[in-house]
Amino acid sequence: MSRSERKWDHIRFALENGQERRSALDDIQFIHQSLPNLNVSDIRLDHSIGELSLSSPIFINAMTGGGGEKTFRINKELAIVARNTGLAMAVGSQMSALKEKNERYTYEVVRKENPNGVLIANLGSEATPDDAKMAIQMIEANALQIHLNVIQELTMPEGDREFSGALRRIESIVQAVNIPVIVKEVGFGMCKETVELISSIGVTAVDVGGFGGTNFAEIENKRREKSLSFFNQWGIPSAISIIEAAYASNRIAVIGSGGFISAFDMAKGLALGADAIGVAGYFLRILIEFGVEALQAEINTVHKELSVIMTALGARTISDLKRAPVIISGATHHWLDQRGIN
Ligand code: FNR
Repeated sequence: MSRSERKWDHIRFALENGQERRSALDDIQFIHQSLPNLNVSDIRLDHSIGELSLSSPIFINAMTGGGGEKTFRINKELAIVARNTGLAMAVGSQMSALKEKNERYTYEVVRKENPNGVLIANLGSEATPDDAKMAIQMIEANALQIHLNVIQELTMPEGDREFSGALRRIESIVQAVNIPVIVKEVGFGMCKETVELISSIGVTAVDVGGFGGTNFAEIENKRREKSLSFFNQWGIPSAISIIEAAYASNRIAVIGSGGFISAFDMAKGLALGADAIGVAGYFLRILIEFGVEALQAEINTVHKELSVIMTALGARTISDLKRAPVIISGATHHWLDQRGIN
């Protein structure tokens, strides 16, 4: 194991053990299969979400909104990683670049570096259809994410206090653009009822952005004199949120995210019903501490490990993995029981 590999093992270790694991993925167990009747070389990692064809079920989730040289550098490096590993990539919120024309180069760079890749634009739910069209055009996006971040805004002293009308605004965006729209959370998860509302307006996929990874309440609370500490524990753990979303009455593609840092966790997320897994904080830490090549190496390792896990489970495709039987225990079982989800 190289020095940098060992170092990012330490990051994973710190993320797993520095605080109690809150994504609820530890409550999920695979049922071992002694006769998988499959070879590692049979495994296929490609999958599609609506009309989006992905060569991997993993993607780089939205980060680095805000513009500036730092955003430019990180977006450029993430785009190179996405190109070299075949991963789809979402950019961070483009709102600042819509307002400031001279910030646009910090986003446009992702299409320059990755001319043929799957790139996803990103805006908040305050966006108008015109904003959405401009954000899409800026990076020639293949899909658009609209993020919901009520708890983050409420925790920020200077944050938004008005949240009414978001669903109708998103609906008008869905009607105005001609690429898939994904509605995402940013670490607080989504329940079944929220997912049902979102799917009723023609959105292609929800990204549950569950609790258990990057925690924007904690981050924002550190900047406040009088912290709203009750929000530090607020949210639906990622594993539970994926199950809630997959259980929604009208079918919609489900993306799992929030605290995913290993192939094992990603396999669990997919087995719970996710079509893809978004990773933000973990990839960013590897990129910043160890650089482009280290992140590419980690993504290649994750792909190899995912293939090994799928072989053990007898799941040749991501669709097969979505049907892999699991046992759900602990607080997650208790939650699902009370919610009548089984
Ligand atoms: C984010 N995230 C985010 N999401 C979004 O929709 N627009 C944005 O601009 C940002 N910005 C952002 C910056 C940084 C530094 C991080 C780490 C994250 C949220 C991200 O896409 C994801 O939903 C959460 O971070 C949860 O996933 P992880 O980090 O636990 O894998």
